[in-house]
Amino acid sequence: MAAATNTGGTSFSSSAVRRGVVATVQPLATQAGLEALDIGGNAIDAAIACALTLGVVDGHNSGIGGGCFMTLRLRDGRVVTLDGRETAPAAAKRDLFLRDGKVDARLSQDGALAVGVPGELATLEQASRRFGRLPMARLLESAARIADQGFAIDHSYASRLRETERELKQFPEATALFLNGLPEIPAAGNRLRLPALAWSYRQIAAQGVGWFYRGPYAQQTASWMQAHGGILTAADFAAYQPVERQPVRGTYRGYEIISFPPPSSGGVHVIEILNLLERFDLKSMGDGSANFVHVVTEAMKLAFADRAKWLGDPEFTRVPLGLVSKEYAARLARQIRMDRATEVTAAGVPPQAETDYFERERRRHTTHFSTADVEGNWVACTASINTSFGSKVVIPGTGIVLNNHMDDFSAQPGVPNFFGLVGAEANAIEARKRPLSSMSPTLVLLNGRPVLSVGAAGGPTIISQTLLAVLRTIDFQLPPREALAGARFHHQWKPDQLRVEQSLGEPVLAELRRRGHKVVVESSLGAAQAVMLRLDGSWAGSADPRGEGTASFR
Ligand code: GLY
Repeated sequence: MAAATNTGGTSFSSSAVRRGVVATVQPLATQAGLEALDIGGNAIDAAIACALTLGVVDGHNSGIGGGCFMTLRLRDGRVVTLDGRETAPAAAKRDLFLRDGKVDARLSQDGALAVGVPGELATLEQASRRFGRLPMARLLESAARIADQGFAIDHSYASRLRETERELKQFPEATALFLNGLPEIPAAGNRLRLPALAWSYRQIAAQGVGWFYRGPYAQQTASWMQAHGGILTAADFAAYQPVERQPVRGTYRGYEIISFPPPSSGGVHVIEILNLLERFDLKSMGDGSANFVHVVTEAMKLAFADRAKWLGDPEFTRVPLGLVSKEYAARLARQIRMDRATEVTAAGVPPQAETDYFERERRRHTTHFSTADVEGNWVACTASINTSFGSKVVIPGTGIVLNNHMDDFSAQPGVPNFFGLVGAEANAIEARKRPLSSMSPTLVLLNGRPVLSVGAAGGPTIISQTLLAVLRTIDFQLPPREALAGARFHHQWKPDQLRVEQSLGEPVLAELRRRGHKVVVESSLGAAQAVMLRLDGSWAGSADPRGEGTASFR
């Protein structure tokens, strides 16, 4: 059932693809990805071009001041997952955000203490060096040109500026960058120029990422932090490394699901919920029916209860592998009743929770983009500076907005973060630890061949959106636009609320209320992008129909 608001976001379906396909939330970013393909780049180059351009034209969501996760499938069949999540500064202690024993949420959301060491740039550089074909400097220069010349902000950008104005005004550099250059009430179509960001991109193009992690940028940031009550140091920047992890893998009705492992919770819970739902005949329930929404919601509740207990950075906590086992799903599924919503009182105990765990490796925020090329390279990448304009901190002269991903830690057990998520020991703040994420860049394969790249933006709803896109692709055989247009819903265990898009329709909502769900209706939930290769060799792609993004091909 398509939402009434689903009139944006372009999509395509074509067998005329000669180079590759790109889907992002912003037309200029999609264009940048396509141009990378035009000049001989592969899907990895296209994804890097998208990321760098999104950092300019969609900079309230993501950028090099933040982090990202990349799930890559290479033309030779290898799968690589690159973790570019931020890390806590070495001086971070678990009570960092407590004042008089209570969490002060402003500290984890705005300003110096909110900032984790950014990981996106190092990750893009690694992806480019290992798997790309174009020099990253060339992609940086293209994005710098847009920042220099300016671009028309879209509706989403304008509304974020209006929503965040009060917070942005507490930071002179952010005010000068984002508010002073635009009318008092920003509107779509207003032109924004970011010459300072262009300058930073050009420094990186000329000097390499060392400029950022070990050079002038790191030093200037450390001085700023020291002067403004922060704890981030130049040594924290110098120590940052992207981590190559083992992807989390599952199966669903014969398809292979490959997604992002901890410190994302996304992949684990998308697969945990799919395992649960495999035990139910969703197809015969029908997409958007009360039975469908009910059973998926019950599965979400069980998984999110597990998230709150078990999930955290695998370098610091043992995340049980059993969470994604079919055996555990069978056990959990027995708790689901079709006639009423059950109360989930606590997390489950996955099999071998003490012995088998993920290996130590040696409101809409965030953005997801998908690319693929005809050679067989596929990318699903989700990138973020966390909430709108991150920490709002911009080191003077750089134009780089720093993230507030420190808020994704559990500041105190049971105390919700910005997204209402609770956590425990596993996600407590520790020096150099990575905060738990929900970002779920996911690839779906059939008989070893990639068929779908998908992921989403929007805090914990990322997991639900990605899950629903996969269900609608596999159970209901929908093409990407329809799979993304379908009414969304989300339950994260706590608070006990079933958030639904209005388009589910009143009869379904009434039946859900009757079964005991505490339904909260929203006009629209999240933003997902997807690219698909059909069995007949034709391609399809879609930007979220709720947004202004584009999907296209070369
Ligand atoms: N910033 C949202 C997440 O990482 O889950």
